[in-house]
Amino acid sequence: MMMIRGGAKVAPSLMKATGPRMSHGGLHLLNPAATAELHSASGMSGIGWMWTRNPATGGARFASTVTLGEKTATEEPTTDANPKKTENNESTGGDAGGNKGEKGIASYWGVEPNKITKEDGSEWKWNCFRPWETYKADLTIDLTKHHKPTTFLDRLAYWTVKSLRWPTDLFFQRRYGCRAMMLETVAAVPGMVGGMLLHCKSLRRFEQSGGWIKALLEEAENERMHLMTFMEVAKPKWYERALVITVQGVFFNAYFFGYLISPKFAHRMVGYLEEEAIHSYTEFLKELDKGNIENVPAPAIAIDYWRLPADATLRDVVMVVRADEAHHRDVNHFASDIHYQGRELKEAPAPIGYH
Ligand SMILES: [Fe+2]
Ligand SMILES: [Fe+2]
Repeated sequence: MMMIRGGAKVAPSLMKATGPRMSHGGLHLLNPAATAELHSASGMSGIGWMWTRNPATGGARFASTVTLGEKTATEEPTTDANPKKTENNESTGGDAGGNKGEKGIASYWGVEPNKITKEDGSEWKWNCFRPWETYKADLTIDLTKHHKPTTFLDRLAYWTVKSLRWPTDLFFQRRYGCRAMMLETVAAVPGMVGGMLLHCKSLRRFEQSGGWIKALLEEAENERMHLMTFMEVAKPKWYERALVITVQGVFFNAYFFGYLISPKFAHRMVGYLEEEAIHSYTEFLKELDKGNIENVPAPAIAIDYWRLPADATLRDVVMVVRADEAHHRDVNHFASDIHYQGRELKEAPAPIGYH
């Protein structure tokens, strides 16, 4: 089992290469040697990237107005000597369409992100994640691993999850695309709640977290990327959106208090939830193989996030998502085991980049 996957391998290398540049707004051109280092470190053949110098920030970090995503920063730099102009150039909102950026957003603050391009010169179009956050899923992970419940808390966690499956099966039947999308709205909550509570604990106690805050937040982000992917193939109906709001309201608070009372129980429960997710995605694959669900081309966001080949299909996406769930299963059962041994999470180095 690989403890460090693509994403984790890329990140340090990239940060080493770009770190100093990132702190000097404007000059973000990655030199060829660093680019080569990145490519060899990541093993990326299909996707490459380089920072490009953006005229809007190059040497004009304090320009009065820049337009995000467009080269329109031709105004004179604003200084304190011209406060009226400063006032007039305050952000005026505009289209916050993120990846589309048709209109751009006026910005006084000089925080324009640097443009990133792929190897083929096309623009990196995702604002929600960057190339160094992408990875190749470890499909060799054992999908059959299961934590046998032995203690009362284990059984409670196990049967809580099992009992949640019954209404889920009833509601979704065999609509696995829709089911996956809806379950991901729940799956992305525990990592965020756990990470937030550990964050607060670190502040309260003046102590390190052992990397667990980052590991849990990474899990939440990874789950949210699952949702962003399945949104592309299954559009939620109004009553499903309403259901998500209701479920989130209940589940967030229940998990929050559950984690406060017993993190050992909370992590165990998530471990079992992930085991169920693996089962759901296995059923999803069966339906795809039977032809009951059309094996449509993979969404573009999935191809870039998991570094899939350009001709990847929905089946490939389900495979990598299922592998992610197996990693979440291991992390959460491991976290629960640490608590069972009377230790704290910070005593075991967190599996950062393992998702
Ligand atoms: Fe997920
Ligand atoms: Fe998961």
